[in-house]
Amino acid sequence: MIEEISETVETDVRLSTAAPVLYENIEESEKKRIQTDINELNRVLGGGVVLGSLVLIGGEPGIGKSTLLLQLSGEFAAKDRKVLYVSGEESLEQIKIRGERIGLKKGDLFLLAETNLERIILQAEKLKPEIFILDSVQTVFSSTLTSSPGTISQVREVAHKVFHFAKTKKVPSFLVGHITKEGSLAGPKALEHMVDVVLYFEGDRDHNHRVLRAFKNRFGSVSELGVFEMRGTGLHAVENPSAFFLKERSREAVGSAVVCTIKGSRPLLAEIQALVSSTLFVGSPRRMTIGLDHYRASMLLAILEKNLGYGFSGEDIYLNVAGGLSLDETASDLGVVVAVISCMKNKPVPPEICVFGEVGLSGEIRSVSQPMARIKEAQSQGFTKIFLPENNLSRIEKREVKGVTLGGVHNVKDTLMNIF
Ligand code: TYD
Ligand code: MG
Repeated sequence: MIEEISETVETDVRLSTAAPVLYENIEESEKKRIQTDINELNRVLGGGVVLGSLVLIGGEPGIGKSTLLLQLSGEFAAKDRKVLYVSGEESLEQIKIRGERIGLKKGDLFLLAETNLERIILQAEKLKPEIFILDSVQTVFSSTLTSSPGTISQVREVAHKVFHFAKTKKVPSFLVGHITKEGSLAGPKALEHMVDVVLYFEGDRDHNHRVLRAFKNRFGSVSELGVFEMRGTGLHAVENPSAFFLKERSREAVGSAVVCTIKGSRPLLAEIQALVSSTLFVGSPRRMTIGLDHYRASMLLAILEKNLGYGFSGEDIYLNVAGGLSLDETASDLGVVVAVISCMKNKPVPPEICVFGEVGLSGEIRSVSQPMARIKEAQSQGFTKIFLPENNLSRIEKREVKGVTLGGVHNVKDTLMNIF
């Protein structure tokens, strides 16, 4: 025990006394990315996995984290890249059964069922894999600590040792972390600051779609989304997320508007739903938003009150983005406004209409980035009428897009007159 402790101290000292390196001699390992064969994963990672990076994948149990990483392992191994997949949760047979189910390709994939961290690192150093996967931080423990697996000190020690392995051996490493509804204390949240990339794998188990999003990424944007569908044969990339998220839209529903937003590097159509109903809580009506910023939504409601003379003080208002998406772009403002008014007026938005634009405090519609990408996406999904900021429209060279009528709008008033 004492020996082990002094050994860690020694390594720490050696680490902290690394000699300074001349700026121009520093290799940009961030540029060295390995493309995985899972494009949706590459996208969320910022264009492939960076050498020596440590990626944490968090999600609720059963969401598909192990499946995703096993698929990743298979694809890698099939290209003669050595992979070590360590599971502290399942036996080798269990993993093989899953592998057969998803048609895992044969290749240089090594599995290890082990829960002792020191032995895991020892094996990893011996095998020298090009990718290292540890499933999960909660089931593995370090024998240098007396606390039980899954406690904060243990999960931190696991992350710390794997981080050290990833950096010194320049091996991209993935850690799985479970998020549990109750005590997520010793879960991914406790590790966010210790790793390079934090990805969350989400979706509800009643639906088949899964969204992979970056929460933190030292090497890329956090707004990218990867969309998958869980089938009997594992996870499959959703080629057309817009169509996917609009699939269940009811075309005659009141309180529903489609917006074209930009998620990371690609445009995405999303349905915003509003429900306005008279409140039982006079004086403090409910405001609920799911997938939209609460403060921004309150501001938009205030703008509508001021500009259109609506009174919302007696109304509960619920706002939701269909399919569990979350929209953080001001370009979706116009969709919120249109959905709320549609519900107030009890009139559906004609199904061929799509909108985007930022709404300013005096009700003006302000221009947003990449209008053409948004228009093309809406066009590809069969929308024939698009309302967008006049300031965007006036700067587009070709004001005609085949089969689509473009309507430039100046303020919330003229938008609503145009639509209803
Ligand atoms: P899993 O990857 O074990 O989840 P996690 O590691 O996040 O706990 O996924 C488990 C669920 O996925 C399980 O309910 C079965 C389902 N599943 C499929 O629907 N199809 C498949 O091909 C596989 C492998 C799993
Ligand atoms: Mg698992």
